[in-house]
Amino acid sequence: MSKDIKIQKFLAMAGVCSRRRAEELIRQGRVTVDGRPARIGERIVPGIHRIAVDGKEVKIRDKVYIALNKPAGVVTSTKSQFGEKTVMDLLGDVKERVFPVGRLDKDTEGLLLLTNDGELAHRITHPRFGVKKTYFVKTDREVPEEILEKMRRGTPVDGKTVVPDLLQRLGRKKYRIILHEGMKRVVKRLFLAHGFRVVHLKREAVGNLRLGHLKRGEWRYLTRRDLEKIFQEPPYPSRERE
Ligand code: URA
Repeated sequence: MSKDIKIQKFLAMAGVCSRRRAEELIRQGRVTVDGRPARIGERIVPGIHRIAVDGKEVKIRDKVYIALNKPAGVVTSTKSQFGEKTVMDLLGDVKERVFPVGRLDKDTEGLLLLTNDGELAHRITHPRFGVKKTYFVKTDREVPEEILEKMRRGTPVDGKTVVPDLLQRLGRKKYRIILHEGMKRVVKRLFLAHGFRVVHLKREAVGNLRLGHLKRGEWRYLTRRDLEKIFQEPPYPSRERE
């Protein structure tokens, strides 16, 4: 059986507003429980009591988790500022109000997660939880081996030393890098700190969850098993094999 919760908490969980704002709505008489005005602090049972705001029924939405293969040229934002295409425009008929977990630059492509679960989003993005993100990088010029070695030892970015969990050469100007940092534009700034410009960047995995067969612009719902993978080690070796 569902547990009873305070009506303000219910409205916040349902994504209607903050708990504080819910109190205001209740005071203004705009919230009802089974058709009668709600009282601040009263306990209700979701799914049993019928809660409405301005006459419109409120339901707690299910949590949803989405993996999108973000194409370059699309902004990681819930709102378009200058008429730019956002990742939300790619989600089609997703009814839940999801938001991106962290961000990829406009010109970055690859795996972007979206959810309406703030708790999980926090666990993925906060460096304390150490979720590793794997990127494919192409630079404007070849990075010599001694510079790669320096980068492996650590590079100051924004007053913090960024030490990759992996930095692997894949080709003359191609690399794979695994980081658990959540700083903005960290990959580009890391290479730039050594004088190299990133000309192509793609996120290949978050934890052990890979992009898989998703084509550019395609998305899918994640399963429970996918969610577990996010908190596992990446699919690539954590040590150099060269
Ligand atoms: N690092 C970057 O520089 N850009 C991204 O989009 C993601 C990580």
